[in-house]
Amino acid sequence: MNITLDTLLLRRSVRSFDGRPLVAADQDALEAVLAEAGPGPFGATPRIRLLDAAQAGLGDTDRAPTRIGAYGVVSGARAWLVGAIGKSPDACADFGYVFESILLEATARGLGTCWLGGTFSRGAAARAVGLAEGELLPAISPVGYPADRRTLVDAAFRLGAGSDGRKPWRELFFEGEPGRPLPASGLGDWAGIFEAVRRAPSASNRQPWRLVLDAPGRVRLLFAENRAYNRALDPVRVQELDLGIAMRHLAEACAATGRTGAWARLGEDAAKPAAPFAYHATWLGDA
Ligand SMILES: Cc1cc2nc3c(=O)[nH]c(=O)nc-3n(C[C@H](O)[C@H](O)[C@H](O)COP(=O)(O)O)c2cc1C
Repeated sequence: MNITLDTLLLRRSVRSFDGRPLVAADQDALEAVLAEAGPGPFGATPRIRLLDAAQAGLGDTDRAPTRIGAYGVVSGARAWLVGAIGKSPDACADFGYVFESILLEATARGLGTCWLGGTFSRGAAARAVGLAEGELLPAISPVGYPADRRTLVDAAFRLGAGSDGRKPWRELFFEGEPGRPLPASGLGDWAGIFEAVRRAPSASNRQPWRLVLDAPGRVRLLFAENRAYNRALDPVRVQELDLGIAMRHLAEACAATGRTGAWARLGEDAAKPAAPFAYHATWLGDA
């Protein structure tokens, strides 16, 4: 399915579902997307399973899905996306990039999803996906039909994370060097592309990335890491998931506006001054 700019701009995390299992058409479409999902930009390929609670040996009652979702944060979900990836230096960025593409496909079909990096039972999810030695289980997501109203826990979570807000443009997007704000006017399609990145989900809505427009179609991605937060779930690097997600949003937004391009890691860009941030990757694409 085509990910449009609207899909990227209008997606919101959904934690309140209506309790219906996925209909066959949605189940088949997600399975097809999973079968086609390739590697992330740094070469690692996650394995992602679409599980319903009964299939996963988690029981078949309405309570079982809550067990994997844990802590009552998610309600009414009957299907889960659970992913694993082999340990490597960029495993979490690759996982973020690929898992987000699945969530965007689900969003485009009208399904609700929510990245869960912390508030779920890692043990139950690891058993469900058959986690192997040498693999990480970075995150999971419920997938299903949004309920008409959010539960109180869902609403409280959104409030706590400030989920409706985003950092202002001048803090996120720069021209030529970090700290020099990118003027929002005169960008043409690129205004929508940057906004699609700004709307990307991130853990606790911290948005730990900055973009520097160095030349038409050439964008440097910098990492604004909060070390303690990023490493709190070691060996999972939660903010590197966020980097991968942001990279996916930029790639999808470029595709949605008819552009081609790819992410690369460039020695010459790594050598450019980036303080207080750290260089991560460069988008090389059409202007
Ligand atoms: C890597 C990652 C981990 C997250 N972990 C959790 C989590 O453990 N529990 C939760 O309720 N939401 C979690 N979220 C959802 C974020 O809180 C949410 O994306 C952010 O507040 C922005 O809201 P939005 O997705 O509705 O735009 C996570 C998001 C990301 C990207």
